[in-house]
Amino acid sequence: MTINDFASTQSDSQDTAGRRVLVWDPLVRLFHWSLVGAFATAWLTAEDIQPVHQLAGYAVAGLVGLRIIWGLVGSRYARFTQFVRGPAQTLSYIGDMIPGRERRYLGHNPAGAAMVVAILVTLSGTALTGWLLEAPGRAASAAGQVQIVTPAFADSDANEAEAGAGGYLEGRAGGPLKDVHETFANLLLLLVALHVGGVALASFRHRENLVRAMVTGRKRPPAPGDIA
Ligand code: HEM
Ligand code: HEM
Repeated sequence: MTINDFASTQSDSQDTAGRRVLVWDPLVRLFHWSLVGAFATAWLTAEDIQPVHQLAGYAVAGLVGLRIIWGLVGSRYARFTQFVRGPAQTLSYIGDMIPGRERRYLGHNPAGAAMVVAILVTLSGTALTGWLLEAPGRAASAAGQVQIVTPAFADSDANEAEAGAGGYLEGRAGGPLKDVHETFANLLLLLVALHVGGVALASFRHRENLVRAMVTGRKRPPAPGDIA
């Protein structure tokens, strides 16, 4: 293969065998499925296995940080400027979804894009409040209010057995901050449910498997009327 052949196969990302175009670069795909794994791990270990919960939570934070940088400097369909739209365009897209006449987007559609932003913001809030919760000194200095730091066992939600001497709640902040952390986490469940529902709906409407596209990175090329 000459350098020119190589450049032409890379340049427009066209897969001549499958006639599909590369939309999601490898970093976006790796980000997505690692995020699903880390998020599920954080949820499943939240009540019982704190060290794993915290590690998974930090992994989520790291992935979100990486994705934000990639949203600024990454490939075409990974960039926020490519997919984030204003409220008017997003609402008009949602209006079109009701009678089922929304157009196909090669990248994220406006509703999906709003959901991506909501998920990234809520994940950041969850990880930040988790980090603040984990050591009382952080909560006090970040919030500038010493009252938020409660002694171990003052947390009314705490399971006394788990909080025993030397237990994971020893010296940890609780109260309102813990409530905020849990509220963010619960909100995420709702957002993720809507996200997966939206993916299923768009897959059905446009007759394409978007989950597979998030694995292979490739989608059907744009037809006339589609937005690339
Ligand atoms: C197993 C369940 C899930 C499936 C099947 C799924 C599927 C997908 C698909 C197909 C896309 C691309 C959407 C498009 O074509 O516009 C996507 C994007 C995305 N999903 Fe999921 N998802 C799942 C779970 C999650 C979870 C649990 C989170 C976060 C906690 C999440 C966060 C995101 C984000 C942030 C994007 C944007 C990707 C990017 O541009 O980097 N997803 N998902
Ligand atoms: C972004 C991903 C995260 C999710 C989805 C998440 C989710 C949750 C949930 C659902 C709970 C409530 C558990 C219960 O019912 O008792 C919880 C508690 C907690 N989380 Fe997270 N969390 C995340 C990140 C973090 C991080 C990064 C840390 C700290 C480094 C952390 C520290 C804690 C602590 C200390 C508790 C309180 C445990 C207790 O008092 O029972 N979380 N988290």
